[in-house]
Amino acid sequence: MFQPNSIWQFATAANIRFGRGSLELLPQELQRLNVTRPLIVTDKTIAALPPVVSLLQTLRKSFSAVVVFDGCVAEPPIEIAQAAIELGLSERIDGIVALGGGSNLDIGKIAATVLKHGGMPRDYFGFDVVPGPILPLIAIPTTAGTGSEVSHSAVLTDVSAQSKVSTLSRWLRPNVAVVDPSLTDSCPSVVTAHSGIDALVHAIESVTNRDFSEMTGVDPQAKAYEGSYPLTRLIGGEAIRLVGQFLVRAYQNPKDREARDGMALAALLAGMAFSNSGVALVHALEYPIGGLTHCSHGEGNGLLLPHVMRFNLPSCVDSMSKVAGWLGCDTKGQTAVEAAESAIAAVVQLQQAVSIRTRLSELGLAREQIPWVASSAFQIKRLMDVNPRRATEMDLVAIIENAF
Ligand SMILES: NC(=O)c1ccc[n+]([C@@H]2O[C@H](COP(=O)([O-])OP(=O)(O)OC[C@H]3O[C@@H](n4cnc5c(N)ncnc54)[C@H](O)[C@@H]3O)[C@@H](O)[C@H]2O)c1
Ligand SMILES: [Zn+2]
Repeated sequence: MFQPNSIWQFATAANIRFGRGSLELLPQELQRLNVTRPLIVTDKTIAALPPVVSLLQTLRKSFSAVVVFDGCVAEPPIEIAQAAIELGLSERIDGIVALGGGSNLDIGKIAATVLKHGGMPRDYFGFDVVPGPILPLIAIPTTAGTGSEVSHSAVLTDVSAQSKVSTLSRWLRPNVAVVDPSLTDSCPSVVTAHSGIDALVHAIESVTNRDFSEMTGVDPQAKAYEGSYPLTRLIGGEAIRLVGQFLVRAYQNPKDREARDGMALAALLAGMAFSNSGVALVHALEYPIGGLTHCSHGEGNGLLLPHVMRFNLPSCVDSMSKVAGWLGCDTKGQTAVEAAESAIAAVVQLQQAVSIRTRLSELGLAREQIPWVASSAFQIKRLMDVNPRRATEMDLVAIIENAF
């Protein structure tokens, strides 16, 4: 008999190419998708990287037109997406290569949506508003962090509302994710740290989330996330293990290829896990905080993570104790609660080892903004719904005050 509460689904990018040198596959992947006039969505730093310069030269030999939009910026405002769309329209492009950190990948997703279906970026904010397939999209991450190369979301900054806005849709998963870890070799350590800790947040939220079977009150049609289930726990757990093994190494020695490769895989796996299981309260709090302070998404998340774990602990002792094991804590002889507490201690240690700031006041948040942050976060239902512990708005105020 059909039992909706026991049937989960898993989705990711249609095709994933992973490994050093995979960037060279781009021309053939574009041809496979019948793209003849690709728009490369990137930023000026990435466009100047030697492997990207030579990639563009190769592409220009194989395609009738290669249009480059290099106007992306970190935590991008909606207007940047609009500028990419206008260039794509005037150049009659027929496919998109999003190349860069999560910021550029998300601009590429929104541009591919609007260039296919018309209108404006704002028309597609929310869950399941995109009516069908978007333009062919290849996502090539240059940070090891967001997992946007496989996820079904795109996050922009609404400058006037001082907050982040998201589009979530199954159609946003790229046709191909090309993950070439050599592209992350040039990441400055601050980007390595912030994007790497974001991958950890994705993985931890994806494994500690409410279980799939408990997501009963959520209308299946309005469900952006499934809750955690065996496959997301398997993938998310491996992502946590890889971050524990490699993030500090990649941060301390940017040339450590094994660590770079490990982090690229960690970020990819974390993206596969969270974009099905969901991200939760850390992200709900980070969106308004990032909108107000313009901190990087990764740093805001990394700062908040131990505080949210402390709040969530009573509702996810079992999964959080497993996090401790994945992070390499010695939990022999510990109770499950003690092991879960060890996971929080390990996260704090990792946070310090990669110099994530520890107080929201240092990011520029003002005390009088705390109630607004709590009420804005509380309204992001898809993130609150999937959090393991039910939280009131006053709980959110208390978490923010602890992190202040
Ligand atoms: N769509 C999703 O699923 C998803 C998930 C998490 C976060 N995000 C979003 O992604 C954004 C953050 O992305 P991010 O952490 O990857 O950072 P980013 O894309 O904002 O990049 C940060 C900076 O690093 C530089 N950079 C990136 N790669 C580099 C490289 N290899 N060498 C030198 N410089 C490099 C960029 O030019 C930029 O100045 C936020 O807007 C966040 O909201 C999206
Ligand atoms: Zn994130």
